[in-house]
Amino acid sequence: MEENNRILDEKDFDQLFIKRKSVRAYDGRPIPSAVKDALIAATMRAPTAGNMMLYSILEVEDPGIKARLAETCDHQPFIATAPLVLVYLADYARMTAFFKASNVQAILGSETAAMAWPRESDLLLAASDAIIAAQTTAIAAQALGLGSCYIGDIMEHWETHRDLLGLPRYAFPVAMLCIGYPTEQQRQRPQPSRLPETVILHKNRYALPSPELLATLHTGPGEAKNAGQSLYRRKFDTDYAREMRRSVKAMLDAWWRKDPD
Ligand SMILES: Cc1cc2nc3c(=O)[nH]c(=O)nc-3n(C[C@H](O)[C@H](O)[C@H](O)COP(=O)(O)O)c2cc1C
Repeated sequence: MEENNRILDEKDFDQLFIKRKSVRAYDGRPIPSAVKDALIAATMRAPTAGNMMLYSILEVEDPGIKARLAETCDHQPFIATAPLVLVYLADYARMTAFFKASNVQAILGSETAAMAWPRESDLLLAASDAIIAAQTTAIAAQALGLGSCYIGDIMEHWETHRDLLGLPRYAFPVAMLCIGYPTEQQRQRPQPSRLPETVILHKNRYALPSPELLATLHTGPGEAKNAGQSLYRRKFDTDYAREMRRSVKAMLDAWWRKDPD
């Protein structure tokens, strides 16, 4: 391996990436403000489309709001006890306001031409920015001895979360991270397995795994005899999955509405 430009030794690299796992129980120690500052400083350097920073981060400090999120995000009590809860928003509200404040209308050629509103592509870029920022925080947390866990269920109950967090139009929560110092039990907990690299890494052209290989995927200790059926039931045929589909569609409908703000 080319070692010349390496900035982490093998042990640190392993600790940061190979040994990382989600952490869902925290030992109660508060996160010092210098550590929190370092997390945010690292996050601010995350890559971002066109350096536009099409995201915002909302720190949930209020225990009442944390407790509510623990309910609305598919009843996950550890959200309420996490020392640091960060919501990552795909955010075109700030950019739209910036364009308006910059009188973009003046350069549109005709007085009746309306300023373009954010489209599908803009939402996808903003969501990418937000997720990349979140993952940068997650890795920075690992580097600083903290543990983190994503909460995808923040995309459920869009109307409730919008009102609870005071979100304007064009600001949609795409991820939430719970962060804290791991309990000893969490430190010892084995990592979950991964799919084989051969089904993830393709060379030059995409190739679906063979039916024989597919039949072996997502099987493991404690898994039902038919792993596909059990995964489908767990991830698609549940109330939270139905709520996520409804909620994201409701957000998209609000995002596309062409009426003025
Ligand atoms: C987009 C996304 C959403 C997730 N949502 C949740 C969640 O709501 N609750 C939870 O406990 N874990 C959640 N996770 C964590 C995954 O369950 C976890 O990453 C996965 O099981 C692999 O485990 P590992 O991170 O320990 O390797 C989420 C992860 C991602 C990337």
